Amino acid sequence: MSVVKLDMTTVFIPTSGKSQKSLISQNENVSVVALNAQSIPRAEALALRLGIQASCDPNAASGLVLEVSQDRLGLRDTAQPRARTLSIETAKRRYPAAGKDLLSRALGRQCESVIDATAGFGADTFDFVRRGKTVFAIERVEVAAIMLEEAASAFHPGREGGALEVVCGDAIERIGELATVDVIFLDPMFPDRSRHTAQPRKAQQLLRRLAGEDPDAGTLLQVARTHARRRVIVKRPRHAPPLGGAPDIVHNGKAVRYDVYLADGGAS
Ligand SMILES: C[S@@+](CC[C@H](N)C(=O)[O-])C[C@H]1O[C@@H](n2cnc3c(N)ncnc32)[C@H](O)[C@@H]1O
Repeated sequence: MSVVKLDMTTVFIPTSGKSQKSLISQNENVSVVALNAQSIPRAEALALRLGIQASCDPNAASGLVLEVSQDRLGLRDTAQPRARTLSIETAKRRYPAAGKDLLSRALGRQCESVIDATAGFGADTFDFVRRGKTVFAIERVEVAAIMLEEAASAFHPGREGGALEVVCGDAIERIGELATVDVIFLDPMFPDRSRHTAQPRKAQQLLRRLAGEDPDAGTLLQVARTHARRRVIVKRPRHAPPLGGAPDIVHNGKAVRYDVYLADGGAS
């Protein structure tokens, strides 16, 4: 596919252009480019939604580029011309054997509905839907939320899969607007993750560039604990300190840990 030069479809996002509640990106210049003539209207609509200033010079694009075609969105890093464009993959993942499936144990037997309050590019979100849960996925970085919405609309979880609704905004505010769910799941950015783990996957690197760090994650946990019917799960790097006080249950994996906070100290 060739990149079509357009007057209004390459747009640059000022880092401070939107309120904190729904960010286009925390740190990065992001541009929107239509990959062919047919996708121009879609690219224009997305640029409009992002509410950003248009540039007439596509060659001046720097930072991250949201590539728009009719049936696909991709995120490309202009500083790494050889790197693959990132698209959200919803293909089925293999689950660990029943006894070793930490996430399943963290969710608990009675979980039917989940708010994924830090959805990112949705790897965990789609996992929950494939497990048959009704899921609300909240993401405040609008570029990521847009990619998530498009992946959700093309996703068919099959007979046993659940349902998915994507919400763009800050979970600290939006959780209270949603129906009560059994489980609220949090996977906030961990500030020192790169020091504790090997180089993160490409998707996580791009997400970190878009989202920055999540300094309000402690507040999000407090809010989540007042809204979850059964439990809040916090995904942490294995050796990171807990986000809140001591969790009620901990499920340790090789690289990550699931800290479980039960609602009202209950047993569900
Ligand atoms: C580590 S990533 C999550 C990765 C995700 N679990 C996945 O499977 O791809 C953290 C994400 O949470 C989002 N986030 C953090 N705090 C949030 C909040 N209060 N409301 C909405 N999104 C939030 C960040 O913008 C970032 O995209």
